Amino acid sequence: MTRIAVIPGDGIGIEVTREAVETLRAAALISGRSLHLETLPYGADHFLKTGETLPDAALDSLRSCDAILLGALGDPRVPDNRHAADILLGIRFRLDLYVNQRPVRLLADHLTPLKGRTARDIDFVVFRENTEGLYVGMGGFFKKGTSDEVAIQEDVNTRKGVERIVRHAFEHARARGRRRVLMSDKSNALTFGHDLWQRTFRSVAAEYPEIEASHMYVDALAMQMVKDPSQFQVIVTCNMFGDILSDLGAQIQGGLGLAASANLHPGRTGLFEPVHGSAPKHAGRNIANPMGAILSAAMMLEEVGRVDEARLLEGAVVGCLRERRTTRDLGGSLGTREVGEEIRRRLCDAAAAAPRTGF
Ligand code: NAD
Ligand code: IPM
Ligand code: MN
Repeated sequence: MTRIAVIPGDGIGIEVTREAVETLRAAALISGRSLHLETLPYGADHFLKTGETLPDAALDSLRSCDAILLGALGDPRVPDNRHAADILLGIRFRLDLYVNQRPVRLLADHLTPLKGRTARDIDFVVFRENTEGLYVGMGGFFKKGTSDEVAIQEDVNTRKGVERIVRHAFEHARARGRRRVLMSDKSNALTFGHDLWQRTFRSVAAEYPEIEASHMYVDALAMQMVKDPSQFQVIVTCNMFGDILSDLGAQIQGGLGLAASANLHPGRTGLFEPVHGSAPKHAGRNIANPMGAILSAAMMLEEVGRVDEARLLEGAVVGCLRERRTTRDLGGSLGTREVGEEIRRRLCDAAAAAPRTGF
């Protein structure tokens, strides 16, 4: 029995999560393994109705699940997005999910805007530090609202925090047979925090002599991701740079509608979510691409040991992409719902065609 907590959240998060959940149910029916999904109401509506963002009790119940699947958070009715910070960043920080794994993989050649590039050229993973950096919320205002106003936002980098994400990147490379790990920072300008990244990266890299360790400043990396993405295998970087680079990475693999992610602390409950946000202007129109959410659900299945189901989901998404059975963002004409149905139809077809291998 696998227990999953589902937080659809806001905007298109609700629509894409509905498709991911139905697809998970379909995969479980095929495999015959039991799957318990529990939907939680946290998001803007719940916050506006009750004043509650993510209660402590909810956090305890999330911890007791095998995984958490999340849609997206963000609603124009909550201008400071307080609820999103409490729920999304709250889960990442309070469950200490220090690894944000964001794969950049071109699943069908025609989807990349990069001229002449194919699936062989775009297949790397970004490991974003997920519990520190500029995201810790330390700082404050002085003389707020006056012409003398000062706003301070602290960038927190700890030896332990940097070391564990860097080590995770190397461990991932070793386990997956990847030969290169690149660390990206801005140590030429951020001379304290990113000096720590430099020193930590060098010392951890020395423990992995079989893996080539290299470095790029983040501005150069952004340029190189467009110029020649084939040089990258594993990238590790801080929280803020990882956020920005993963949207760039999303676009070179076909767009935000396709990008998936996992927030992990090995051995503990992980959080799985598409990289995109709640896209309020697309909400409720049946036009959002559910594939990023479904591919995130596939990452979740893999993490909880349901690898065959994960492969089924990925295969069905790739099939749809190749035959251009997609939403408008990818040039197709289907709605969110129809893409979900098409993926589930392919899931069943693939399962029916597959030889019985104890699955
Ligand atoms: P966004 O990712 O929501 O949307 C940006 C644009 O990308 C959209 O206008 C749309 O054109 C495209 N897009 C994104 N997802 C798509 C999908 N599934 N299908 C088709 N097109 C898609 O980013 P934003 O507009 O900057 O942010 C909107 C809200 O979402 C904000 O409140 C922001 O804070 C929040 N946000 C939340 C998360 C999260 O919960 N993980 C992530 C990013 C942004
Ligand atoms: C993401 C999002 C979040 C982040 C926002 C909504 C706080 O952009 O998951 O990429 O910056 O981490
Ligand atoms: Mn982001």
